[in-house]
Amino acid sequence: MKRIVLGVTGSAACFKAVAICSELVQMGHEVHPVLTPSATRLIAPLQFSCIAGRRALHDEWDPVDPAGMDHIELARAADLLLVVPATANFLGQAAQALAPTLLGSLVLAMEREKPRLFVPAMNPQMWRNPGVARNVATLEGDGWLRIGPISGLTACGEEGEGRMAEPVDILAEIEPLLSDGA
Ligand SMILES: Cc1cc2nc3c(=O)[nH]c(=O)nc-3n(C[C@H](O)[C@H](O)[C@H](O)COP(=O)(O)O)c2cc1C
Repeated sequence: MKRIVLGVTGSAACFKAVAICSELVQMGHEVHPVLTPSATRLIAPLQFSCIAGRRALHDEWDPVDPAGMDHIELARAADLLLVVPATANFLGQAAQALAPTLLGSLVLAMEREKPRLFVPAMNPQMWRNPGVARNVATLEGDGWLRIGPISGLTACGEEGEGRMAEPVDILAEIEPLLSDGA
């Protein structure tokens, strides 16, 4: 059993994170969903709460931790961080160590040795943007693991690279990190 922080950012692909949350819970893992405020505009935190069996967090200023430090408590407790979907904005903030959200603070507070993965999802032009590419390279250089994106139809109706990897493939890629010995 692993404690997984499931970071969800404000992409049209947010709904696919629900299926991933559900699979991880059914596999016996403890999933802690953390949504950005943008993600909550696209999908209800309660959707994740009822699947994960614990309150999905999204507001740094409305903590569940009695000392108010959700970002620290979660960062300490987590075995692994999976950000899915990851927006262009999130990649930029994480690459620059900015923390305007609970998820951003948590990213900075997590020990570097713990596995951190991101699953980009965006319009193909956004994915090709040189600034986004620089941020991705920075994150990979910092030890983050990337899954996708893949080529295909994106939510904006454009075909190209930027579509979020399929949940089944994401789960297959992270499986080696979820074994008890990992
Ligand atoms: C309907 C809708 C869909 C969006 N989908 C994406 C997306 O797939 N990828 C992306 O990078 N940004 C997308 N955005 C823009 C982000 O939500 C925006 O950049 C936001 O600031 C991201 O905040 P966050 O990274 O804190 O979640 C979308 C915005 C809207 C309104």
